[in-house]
Amino acid sequence: MRRRCFAVVPAAGRGRRMGSEIPKQYLNLAGKPVLQHTLERLLAVPDLEIIVVALAADDRRWHELPLARHPRIRVTEGGAERADSVLAGLECLEGAATAADWVMVHDAARPCLRPADAEKLLHTLAEDEVGGILALPSVDTLKEVTDGVVRQTVARHRIWRALTPQLFRYRLLRRSLEQALARGMPVTDESSAVELAGFRPKIVEGSPDNIKITRPEDLPLARFILERS
Ligand code: CTP
Ligand code: MG
Repeated sequence: MRRRCFAVVPAAGRGRRMGSEIPKQYLNLAGKPVLQHTLERLLAVPDLEIIVVALAADDRRWHELPLARHPRIRVTEGGAERADSVLAGLECLEGAATAADWVMVHDAARPCLRPADAEKLLHTLAEDEVGGILALPSVDTLKEVTDGVVRQTVARHRIWRALTPQLFRYRLLRRSLEQALARGMPVTDESSAVELAGFRPKIVEGSPDNIKITRPEDLPLARFILERS
């Protein structure tokens, strides 16, 4: 049976490392807000039926976004940590998504996602019972370091950098996040919660273009990527 696909976009962060007054998801990037780019890229994936955006409780900028009233987009209130915001997005899909439907979680702060990579994730995992993530193999030689001294060289082929989107079955993801938060475990992405619940998410290779805007120097890099693509 073909499963339905939904998306959750955590966009309730403050962007502290960015250091700007405006939260980074609303900063101007090549003529439009970062979040507008991100949502346009997700809307270009036809399989995603509904995209839920989790916003900060005091967000005043959403309504100015050209896509604010798009029929495939819904909003909900996010929480204190990224995982709380994602969970709020999943709760918003209650009633729409059934247990085995897919949910794609994608950071608002990754506006350079290639829609083809999101589709590759969906198609590669279509028959999988758990889900998986876009990731990048490490290109540098990696060192394990204690107190400023190299302990050893880490086998590079075993190390991947986790990106978003991350794609999981609806109920499995929701339960994994709820359990991890209830246990007070650190949850920096969906995969870590699913791993803690005892599952093995699959890896699908993404593109180095799919950067997360984190610090001020990432903004000109994102502009370069968008203008080239
Ligand atoms: N996010 C969220 N709710 C939070 C914290 C983060 O929805 N309570 C979102 C951010 O808006 C962002 C994504 O999660 O799209 C990735 O988080 P990150 O890059 O860490 O963004 P911020 O938390 O906003 O930045 P910082 O950690 O520098 O404050
Ligand atoms: Mg953060």
